[in-house]
Amino acid sequence: MMVASSITLTLVKIAALGLMCSIVSYFLYFEQSSPGSCPESPSPPPVWEDHEEKPIVLLWFWPLGVKFDFKICFTHFQVNSCVLTDDRSLYPRAEGIIFFHKEIDWHLRNMPQTPRPAFQKWIWFHVESPTNTLKIPGLENLFNLTLSYRRDADITVRNELIIKTAEMKKDFVLPKKDKLVCWIVSNNNPSTGTGLRETYYRELNKHIKIHVFGTAFGGSHLKYEDYYSTIGSCKFYLSFENSVHRDYITEKVNGPLVAGTVPVVLGPPRDNYEQFLPADSFIHINDFSDAKLLAEFLLYLDKNDEVYSRYFRWREFYQATPHLLSMNNEFIHPICLACKHMSRDSNYHVVHNLYQWYFS
Ligand SMILES: *[C@@H]1O[C@H](CO)[C@@H](O)[C@H](O)[C@H]1NC(C)=O
Repeated sequence: MMVASSITLTLVKIAALGLMCSIVSYFLYFEQSSPGSCPESPSPPPVWEDHEEKPIVLLWFWPLGVKFDFKICFTHFQVNSCVLTDDRSLYPRAEGIIFFHKEIDWHLRNMPQTPRPAFQKWIWFHVESPTNTLKIPGLENLFNLTLSYRRDADITVRNELIIKTAEMKKDFVLPKKDKLVCWIVSNNNPSTGTGLRETYYRELNKHIKIHVFGTAFGGSHLKYEDYYSTIGSCKFYLSFENSVHRDYITEKVNGPLVAGTVPVVLGPPRDNYEQFLPADSFIHINDFSDAKLLAEFLLYLDKNDEVYSRYFRWREFYQATPHLLSMNNEFIHPICLACKHMSRDSNYHVVHNLYQWYFS
């Protein structure tokens, strides 16, 4: 949210500067003087408004029923290239319809019942791992685009590192650390696949102190405002995914990378992480044959600042972007990306074997 408001502020400043310059240039022009000394006027910031040329993208269900203001796509992600709506009366005109998988009725009774216009694309929106995916029947040959964290989805949604530009190259200051290993965890329902990480945590905890936040293991509740600063105050953070699947590398890794902490990851194999993150930006539990050896290594790094600091070298070249911290953070970003995608994609697509792809 802080990021959103600072972007808004910047835009307001740019707009104000632009306005001032155009007023000044106007007077200068009519006084026939030489052009003013205003800097090259920045292109006016796009304004959030309904525009006929923009495709209409209809969100059929609010994910988990939680609503948010579509304007956040513009204020936070600078996406403004479609008209997002939840107004189902726009169905016949909508070029894209986003269907949140978990809201789809087992018998598809809550899906559109009227014929689909030939230009319309149905977007399958799902951000859970296969372990936590119900195979609702009847979804084969129904969608045109997939929206998921998978690299090979039609619309991929991830927190990706960006390459720093010259302006971004300011020195990174490591936040002050007063804890060794931290973990925020609220879900320990074994049916969601968390058994493996729980077992690993219990074993690791025998050899090294772990500060646990969140309700799952009796930790204290952490407010959103304290999320990044708390993670930043730890030398290591347990980025343990609830289940292990290809590309399923979530904000649990992004958080520590943003905060300036070394993620200790449990998830798909190291190779898969290295497709998204520099090899020296994280520690993988599989780098060690057991939790005891991992604990010994973390304790060793705790005593060796020079070696520890190598885990931050990547920051010279790349930057992690804070993810939104709110109940629906995992839904807003994908919806905004779908909007952006729909304004660019005029190709015909059909998703034939949805589950064969997703569960492969
Ligand atoms: C979307 O997919 C459906 C069914 O799979 C197909 O009939 C339709 O022609 C596709 N439309 C576009 C625009 O890709």
